[in-house]
Amino acid sequence: MKRAFVTGWPVRHSRSPMIHGHWLKAYGINGSYEHAEVAPEDLEAFLRGCGADGFVGGNVTIPHKEAAFSLVEAADGEAAALGAVNTVWLDGGRLHGANTDGLGFLANLDDGAPGWDERKSVSVILGAGGAARAVARSLGRRGFGAVVVANRTAARAAAVAALAGEAGRAVGYDELWRWLPSADLVVNATSLGMTGKDRLDVHLGELPGHAVVNDLVYVPLETELLAQARANGNRAVDGLGMLLHQAVPGFERWFGVRPKVTPELRALVEADI
Ligand code: ATR
Repeated sequence: MKRAFVTGWPVRHSRSPMIHGHWLKAYGINGSYEHAEVAPEDLEAFLRGCGADGFVGGNVTIPHKEAAFSLVEAADGEAAALGAVNTVWLDGGRLHGANTDGLGFLANLDDGAPGWDERKSVSVILGAGGAARAVARSLGRRGFGAVVVANRTAARAAAVAALAGEAGRAVGYDELWRWLPSADLVVNATSLGMTGKDRLDVHLGELPGHAVVNDLVYVPLETELLAQARANGNRAVDGLGMLLHQAVPGFERWFGVRPKVTPELRALVEADI
């Protein structure tokens, strides 16, 4: 039986076992996918020993993604560019690492909002944390003319914008009014809501009608930003699809079948939110 894991600290909240468990059953594979709660100081021993423990690989989540990158023996281009790994596997006794967040982000939009990248003109990312890094790089590689990163802390915005290459622009929230009227896409990569003390002060009323709004937050599924987008007549895409799509390459690596993101899988995970 092949075993895979998701490691984080804490990790009980992770929906990954539900996703991979569904696929194992759907494809009739004799395998398992388990939570592995590992403290930061134990991560190196865990990853070095995972083969001996009978694992073929696994997912790595917060706060271990950067540390895992420094521990793998080989990394794909995406992981190397982002300095973070979310998928590992053993091959010939060597631990390999990849980052599938960008793939998941793009696949979710391709799936949920066909035509979203027709113009490839202006995209706007709110926030400059780990999730924003994968998004900025993906949009730069997809060929957007401008990848605008708005963040409270300017230095972090600049670092994330650089991942989009020449298209990257770092701005403050007070400069968004210049970009929103021509934006094709707005992505929320912060964990902020739009009410309360710490709020996201963004007015989607300035967006053109064809623009797509994607919130990476998926708890709750319908965020205030998405509600505002819908009220404004814009297409709204929630964050759950990215979670489902980023899981595909790992499952294929460990278990040898490329799984499909189906409405049944989505409904299963959605019922747990
Ligand atoms: P993740 O790795 O999950 O993407 P993160 O690294 O904690 O999360 O990043 C959170 C993002 O939310 C950052 O862009 C952060 O802005 P700063 O870089 O300026 O810290 C943003 N954020 C968090 N709290 C905020 C607040 N009260 N106001 C504005 N931005 C905030």
